[in-house]
Amino acid sequence: MVYKPTDGWGGIGLTKIESEANLDMLLPFLNQIDLRYFYVEKFIKYDNTDYRVDIVDGEFVGCYGRRANSRDWRTNITSGGSVFLREPNDEVIEIAKKSAKICGADIAGVDIIYDLEKEEYVVLEVNGIPAFATPAQEKLGLNFNNKKIDLIVDLIDKKTKKAKKSKKSKKIYKKGK
Ligand SMILES: Nc1ncnc2c1ncn2[C@@H]1O[C@H](COP(=O)(O)OP(=O)(O)O)[C@@H](O)[C@H]1O
Ligand SMILES: [Mg+2]
Repeated sequence: MVYKPTDGWGGIGLTKIESEANLDMLLPFLNQIDLRYFYVEKFIKYDNTDYRVDIVDGEFVGCYGRRANSRDWRTNITSGGSVFLREPNDEVIEIAKKSAKICGADIAGVDIIYDLEKEEYVVLEVNGIPAFATPAQEKLGLNFNNKKIDLIVDLIDKKTKKAKKSKKSKKIYKKGK
């Protein structure tokens, strides 16, 4: 299984517990940590690549893949992973949209891997602050920074207009009273 601290990111702190001996060694430490600050997950057998799917306001923005380096099982760039161009199929896009919706995330970067044993996609996490492509990644072909910015601007407009509207209607209501 995989041990995950709840406040970790970039694969930092993630620990694979591969045997009972491993677990026995960790248990005294785990027992000292408040249960709210970590969780454990079944380790999923996958091909060490993932899909990172960006969603803004329920709309698909773009997708790229990340590949773990040969000495690691984590795909995060911070853990030595690398980015590659990856087209998602409809199922992957739908799963990402659904995940963002369930989490109530207006802006989401959904991490998805393919479980080789169960032969199905699995969502690992929904990130609330997904990164923009760096200039080097843009050169690779990750070309949806502008689309993301436009969708975020639309989202802000929509939200602020709504807020103004409801303020206005409150005022009118007060005046009427
Ligand atoms: N249950 C799991 N089985 C296999 N690999 C996993 C599992 N959970 C995480 N990973 C690997 O570790 C990486 C980081 O995990 P994630 O849950 O996304 O945390 P972080 O917030 O650090 O990115 C994933 O991108 C994936 O490569
Ligand atoms: Mg992640």
